[in-house]
Amino acid sequence: MNKQQKQTILTGDRPTGPLHLGHYVGSLKQRIELQNQGFDMFVLIADMQALTDNFKNPQKVRENITQVALDYLSVGLDPQKTTIMIQSQIPELAELTMFFLNLVTIARLERNPTVKAEIKDRGFNRSIPAGFLTYPISQAADILAFEATIVPVGEDQLPMIEQAREIANRFNLLYGDTLILPEAQLSAFSRLPGTDGKEKMSKSSNNSINLFDSEEVIEKKVMNMFTDPKHLRVEDQGQVEGNPVFTYLDAFGKDLNKIDEMKKHYQLGGLGDSEVKKYLNDVLQEFLEPIRERRSLYSEKDAMEIIKTGTIKGRITASHVLAKVRSSMKINY
Ligand code: TRP
Repeated sequence: MNKQQKQTILTGDRPTGPLHLGHYVGSLKQRIELQNQGFDMFVLIADMQALTDNFKNPQKVRENITQVALDYLSVGLDPQKTTIMIQSQIPELAELTMFFLNLVTIARLERNPTVKAEIKDRGFNRSIPAGFLTYPISQAADILAFEATIVPVGEDQLPMIEQAREIANRFNLLYGDTLILPEAQLSAFSRLPGTDGKEKMSKSSNNSINLFDSEEVIEKKVMNMFTDPKHLRVEDQGQVEGNPVFTYLDAFGKDLNKIDEMKKHYQLGGLGDSEVKKYLNDVLQEFLEPIRERRSLYSEKDAMEIIKTGTIKGRITASHVLAKVRSSMKINY
């Protein structure tokens, strides 16, 4: 990356449910760090993308816009430093998507591994909504309309950044140098397993610990977590690799010596699951309490005001880029 170049960060989330610990380690944590390093940052609440598979339930998307905004504020995104926006209120993004649709083949869209997995998950089979299949193109518009140079994301979003780069390249070749190629920035922990031990924490699998879960709910989820299924009695030797209780400790624990000791003890035998879980519960409660507290400082109305203001600001940037795009495409009549 060219160090002289001014960096612009853009990232986003679909407002389909509460944000959870997986979002935190996969992306939110990085955003806070980048924000506090003084980078220009845009964060998009991607309601149009959420509608591509929730179009029958717009009310759910609407309600979650405020909730996601509150989640952002509670982890420390600061509206003085970071522009938080609502995707559907920036019509330039829809316009840009139309131009980009010409530059991508259906076969290319069908090869996107993340979309492929989602199509399977949602049981679309042969009746894939066109809006859903093409959402990576709309996501490319999100990224390119803000001239983002860095997109901090989890692993599953890498194909989207690749697609955005391809579109930018193709556009620049056809119409002249206009768009800036973004780069993905992966977090150290790009994927947190679910409480059930499945590969990924996700709201649809019911295996997530949400940022706004109550103390009681967190404790219950932790005490019911999947561990090493062969570790039946306290004296049995246990496995640490792939054991989500230890993965969470690695991600959120501060006392590395203690965690190391616990791992050794667990592997040797003699350390019960419930003891490890009790410790993990303490660690997570300590992590989530200040987040819950910060959230209580904002009302839903405050959150809505903040993102509306951000959207107005974001539109100015997007419309400058759109003017360049129209001029390169010779449609600036
Ligand atoms: N696809 C992302 C997700 O499912 C959300 C998203 C929409 C996004 N637009 C974006 C992420 C732009 C990064 C950049 O979480």
